[in-house]
Amino acid sequence: MKNIRNFCIIAHIDHGKSTLADRLLEFTSTVAEREMQNQLLDNMDLERERGITIKSHAIQMNYHYKGEDYVLNLIDTPGHVDFSYEVSRSIAACEGALLIVDSSQGIEAQTISNLYLAIGNDLEIIPVLNKIDLPHAMPEEVSDQIIELIGCDSDDIIHASGKAGIGIEEILNAICDRIPAPKGDPEAPLQALIFDSVFNSYRGIEVYFRIFNGTLKKGEKVKFINTGKTYEADEIGVLKLNQEPRQVMGAGNVGYLISGIKNAKEVKVGDTITHVDRPALGIQGFEDVKPMVFAGIYPVETSEYEELRGAMEKLQLNDASLVWEPETSAALGFGFRCGFLGMLHMEIVQERLEREFDMTVITTVPSVQFHVHTTKGQLLKVSAPSEMPEPNYIDHVEEPFIKAQIISKSEFVGPIITLCMDKRGILKNQTYLTSDRVELSFEMPLAEIVFDFFDKLKTISRGYASLDYELIGFKQSNMVKLDVMLNGEPVDALSAIVHRDKAYDWGKRLCEKLRELLPRQMFEIAIQAAIGQKIIARETVKALRKNVLAKCYGGDISRKRKLLEKQKKGKKRMRQVGNVEIPQEAFLAVLKLD
Ligand code: GTP
Repeated sequence: MKNIRNFCIIAHIDHGKSTLADRLLEFTSTVAEREMQNQLLDNMDLERERGITIKSHAIQMNYHYKGEDYVLNLIDTPGHVDFSYEVSRSIAACEGALLIVDSSQGIEAQTISNLYLAIGNDLEIIPVLNKIDLPHAMPEEVSDQIIELIGCDSDDIIHASGKAGIGIEEILNAICDRIPAPKGDPEAPLQALIFDSVFNSYRGIEVYFRIFNGTLKKGEKVKFINTGKTYEADEIGVLKLNQEPRQVMGAGNVGYLISGIKNAKEVKVGDTITHVDRPALGIQGFEDVKPMVFAGIYPVETSEYEELRGAMEKLQLNDASLVWEPETSAALGFGFRCGFLGMLHMEIVQERLEREFDMTVITTVPSVQFHVHTTKGQLLKVSAPSEMPEPNYIDHVEEPFIKAQIISKSEFVGPIITLCMDKRGILKNQTYLTSDRVELSFEMPLAEIVFDFFDKLKTISRGYASLDYELIGFKQSNMVKLDVMLNGEPVDALSAIVHRDKAYDWGKRLCEKLRELLPRQMFEIAIQAAIGQKIIARETVKALRKNVLAKCYGGDISRKRKLLEKQKKGKKRMRQVGNVEIPQEAFLAVLKLD
């Protein structure tokens, strides 16, 4: 145990975590160079394309240093705020962390919050100034930021470049020298923290764990404390490039467990594995992750409902944080109400449905979960406009609030404050990290950042601002349900729950947007927005006069075909509501209201 080192990497997206991790694997000959694909740690295609590590993984390296053999376990952490609970469990499984900061960018909000998490867990922090090969690197300035933040010495900061292969050996040596060996009693009752799991369609779920106390042997009967389920440890082992089975694993170790578990729901990150015979207490800090954002997912073709259900069931097998239940919409028919960890998670689910299952789906307006207190003293949890009771049954509504931390260059502070106030935010704190980097802290409704907040923040700060947030609780707000009608027919999928002060503006802009997006048809379409019985905005899509084909003068046949094909393609994502055809973009129009 004295030569085991468990560490994770804390870095902002794009600061070079994957590239650097690859170098560590290469240097320790964990992978031969020819096996080296770029960015080995990101497994899924989607991850590679988006450049975001979505699911955390672990990999073990062997390293010889000062005459001793070390086992280094790198536990990978996801880099997006939607997955912050997973990050917190990865951190809890380690004794140390590499803090990687891009020397041309400086520290970002997400990094700071994860860093605090690591410091709170008593992790030894090894600061790494990365990408020092870049001509516009600012090593001194960024070093100062790091020193101020963690109170280290400038000598403690390792200058590195994953790309150019600088500082790699120094990092490995520092991991051995500075990070403490794990503590724990191999004789005590078994306590192993589940920090991740991966779905394998042949072998069932692979559970990744870190043993804090006790010893686990192949074939033993184990229990997951929070789910209460018991299994046999069919296979245990360590994670190298491939899995290497072991007979016995003791305290301090990191590894995988395979027990033929088929459903991801049974494996909860943060749960504790113990023995059935000699159980221990659960490791503290377990949290059941709760979805924050809700939306309906519907098949474009109503006949594909069963197929979509099959796809959702399969997706859920390897994504335990996705929750859903059947839902019906007057406009869209049969579909599913889904809960996601955040907007990125929602996009990923939609994309996976399309890529892996070849489904074309319509996603409705995302919503947060409101607490509606009725006049009869009940508490309703409402995450879809259709669940909102009639106004006269509502006593008051509470909505989730977050603490948002934004880090930006000081020149953008003005526009950022304006944006946040426009989103009903209250500025709580403003700190200068360096002369030109500011940390702003706001209290804001979660509902306001669910939409286009992040995009807007990036735009006004020319990509410089970074955001992190955490839920702080529920507060009373004056929320109303806004309905949309097309030719007098309510389109439930376009309804939204919005703040009363913003309802008029919202309704007006939504109607305008829909007017742009709805294709003209043979008749006039009236678009109306209403709160209860009261119409608050109206737009009209004029009837189509000419046949589109008339434009082709009957002459150019290939052009005509092209036009028809274009129309057919456009149809793919259309939905007929009453007598009006609505394209998918319309359902998401609310997201892009400007
Ligand atoms: P996520 O997986 O999205 O969290 O990103 P990451 O932090 O793993 O960053 P990644 O390693 O994918 O690198 C991001 C970009 O920076 C890529 O375009 C890399 O080629 C580039 N990059 C990484 N390390 C270095 C470096 O040391 N120097 C330079 N110049 N570029 C680097």
